[in-house]
Amino acid sequence: MDATVEFSFPTRVVFGPGSVGGLGDLCADLGITRPLVITDPGLVAVGIPDRITAPLAAASLPHCVFHDIQGNPVERNVLDATQAFVDHGADGVIGLGGGSALDVAKAVRLRATHDLPLEEYDEYVEGWKKTHADVPPMIAIATTAGTGSEVGRAAVITLESTGRKTVLFGPHLMPNVAVLDAELTVGLPPTLTAWTGMDALTHSLEAYLSPNFHPFCDAVALHGLRLCFEFLPGAYENGSDTAARGMMLLASAMGATAFQKGLGATHSLAHPLSTLHGIHHGLANAVMLPTVLDYNEEAASRRLADVAHAIGAEGTAAESIATLSARVNIPGSLSELGITEADLPALAEEAILDGCHLTNPRKVTVDDMLDMYRATL
Ligand SMILES: [Fe+2]
Repeated sequence: MDATVEFSFPTRVVFGPGSVGGLGDLCADLGITRPLVITDPGLVAVGIPDRITAPLAAASLPHCVFHDIQGNPVERNVLDATQAFVDHGADGVIGLGGGSALDVAKAVRLRATHDLPLEEYDEYVEGWKKTHADVPPMIAIATTAGTGSEVGRAAVITLESTGRKTVLFGPHLMPNVAVLDAELTVGLPPTLTAWTGMDALTHSLEAYLSPNFHPFCDAVALHGLRLCFEFLPGAYENGSDTAARGMMLLASAMGATAFQKGLGATHSLAHPLSTLHGIHHGLANAVMLPTVLDYNEEAASRRLADVAHAIGAEGTAAESIATLSARVNIPGSLSELGITEADLPALAEEAILDGCHLTNPRKVTVDDMLDMYRATL
């Protein structure tokens, strides 16, 4: 597909190669006259923000680019970006990037218009109840196909007062428009294409297996899974295949749409692998996924059969996922990522504290976490 198309579920999505060319019109739709573009240094190094600033300049919109943010964004990044927003006299934000830049952009909307300290908006203290709709408009432009942050309502920022990755969550943080332009993702190396793609797959899969009732999300999750199976190999093997790249962007947005239903134990096991050992989030999910599926089989056999049917599996869903992982060169064990038996107890202690497993189809204890890490070693 090479035309730009639009639909809403629930976010307005503008999809198509070259669709960032319409940014001037999108700003006009949202009443943005002085946008602040928030991105990261890695994208600046490869010139991606130029693709955004060119259409803004063509539309005569005075704009400013802020890129001083970290891979795992911290409160200082949000405060600095908010200062840039004020200094520019901005009236809207354009987040450009993977999860980090988009999360900072969302948090700037909060910081620029809400008076309480950021930790007051932590989801753990029901921060969403303190948010209001009067936030500057936001356009979210995804440069990776994985997190789906462009359609999400959460911003993950490490705050000084909490000392941990804090989830700022609220309906008003959801971007007004998500732009999915595959031309922005063609430079992503194969490893990151595979890892982020497996994150998108894990979102759809865990959402579908979550016991919460949400048939709309179930339908989106199953189709998101189909897209991952059909298009991840092509995006991995030929990075300039914008058709496959575009479908993976959709799969990513669909996974994030679906996981409002909840995630599962794979994410709880993956998070400490990232925080304690620096392993990429999508890679950590992909390596843990087959073990978690085995664990879930007795509690979710019918839903796993649905998944197998949806993806046209000849055997089980778990076998198909393992085959896909191998095809995109995901390692089959934690030891290949440098994890040893001695690391496992601390990982399990952290994993059980993570909230994602609360919607796993089978209850998980700290001993189960340890067993699953050990089974993946
Ligand atoms: Fe994830």
